Amino acid sequence: MKILLIGCGFVGERAADLFHAAGHEVVGITHSPESAARLSAQKPWKALACNISAAADISDLRKQIGAVQAFIHCASSSKGGAEMYQAVYVNGMKHLLASFPEAWPLYTSSTSVYPQTDGSTVDETSSAEPTKETGRLLREAENLALDHQGAVARLAGIYGAGRSFLLKNLLEGTSGIEINEGAPEGRLINQIHADDAASALVHLVTHKLIGIYNVVDDAKITQRDCLLKLATLFSLPVPSIKPPDAARKRGWTHKHVSNSKLRNTGWSPQYPDYFSALSDDPQLAASILSLVINDQEKPLHRAENIILIGLMGSGKSTVGRIVAQKLGFQFVDTDHLITDQARCSIPEIFAREGEASFRRRESAVLRQLLGRKHTVIATGGGIITQPMNLPLLKHLGFITWLEASTELLARRTAANNERPLLRGEESPVIKLHRLIQERAPIYKSVADLRILTDELTQQESAYGVAESARLFFSKR
Ligand code: S3P
Repeated sequence: MKILLIGCGFVGERAADLFHAAGHEVVGITHSPESAARLSAQKPWKALACNISAAADISDLRKQIGAVQAFIHCASSSKGGAEMYQAVYVNGMKHLLASFPEAWPLYTSSTSVYPQTDGSTVDETSSAEPTKETGRLLREAENLALDHQGAVARLAGIYGAGRSFLLKNLLEGTSGIEINEGAPEGRLINQIHADDAASALVHLVTHKLIGIYNVVDDAKITQRDCLLKLATLFSLPVPSIKPPDAARKRGWTHKHVSNSKLRNTGWSPQYPDYFSALSDDPQLAASILSLVINDQEKPLHRAENIILIGLMGSGKSTVGRIVAQKLGFQFVDTDHLITDQARCSIPEIFAREGEASFRRRESAVLRQLLGRKHTVIATGGGIITQPMNLPLLKHLGFITWLEASTELLARRTAANNERPLLRGEESPVIKLHRLIQERAPIYKSVADLRILTDELTQQESAYGVAESARLFFSKR
């Protein structure tokens, strides 16, 4: 199928990738020529710039690309107000329908068109008479698609790798629990992971479904419960209560949006709720933590744990156990968590699944440690090789890099055969030397403390770690 996808933003770009992967021909439209050039350089599908609010531009586009079987309008109004909505959504739809009359249209709208504030469950038959002008314009654009035997996807609040206001605001200390008389237990929120939003659009197009479909995950949760769970998971204080913001662009609502209609057509979300996405999407938590780290506005909150990093044989497990005992902390070793879950040894994982799979397991284990406190975490020497692990490590606690000379590391690691990376052709000393060259800059960049252990007993190293950590946390 030849598909015209208007708007290659957070969801549109993912949808274009999915369509392309499924063998369809995709033409992606962006507003700016710069984004079109960037996408064309990066993507296997075609990207063009076009201003959809101008009828002449759309008719030129039609001349340029010819007929298409389907078009999807998922352009954003870039934070604009009613005027922008009119131009991009309503006029944009009219121009697209006029220039591509043969195409099956899909319009991506928003669950904000449901104005309910009574905590009820709403489906596609529920009243959708928005109180805001922007909402009314969405409905007008929806009706254009419906009048042409097309589909409307009403998307809930979108989050995904690189974007989650809920988590970012919480980490930066700016979120508040919204409570008022209408919702004394907190208002219901409705969310969808961007990957699932994209898969829903692909599903609607490939099945040529007609009518309105809500695109939302399976969770029924209040903003309050979501924030409370997140606060626990990120070891943060519970946010204070604040009155609802009447100026919210999506309007203040309190309703549970049902996805049953779409689910009954065979679609299901990969991430049924926000918390399964936090544990199963390898990028979500890490990407939001790194936004906060890069923002530098507010310091990143560091959980009260101690993390030991360093090459194989640097003493992370032995020193870690002593530190845990000294401070009355628990002790975990990421390698052991991996082998417990895989029910086989590290050499077996490397042999059966390869190193990349081991690294995925290692990152997953790190995400499972979110919410821990008073724990010493000994990590595998290569945990820092995956960039997405770094913000997680930084958030999870005070990081100590245990260093030792390659000769000492080689002697210590010679005692067992559990390390597949040292079993190759190369001699262990040479391999360790190479690894330290590669990894030292990364260990250095994340460590709060580094200890050269060659001249120290393990008790002495442990003393250094424990006392430095105590000082670190007492100052925060
Ligand atoms: C590895 C180190 C090992 C283990 C795996 C890979 C590495 O952990 O995770 O064999 O890449 O350095 P230790 O550092 O605890 O030996």
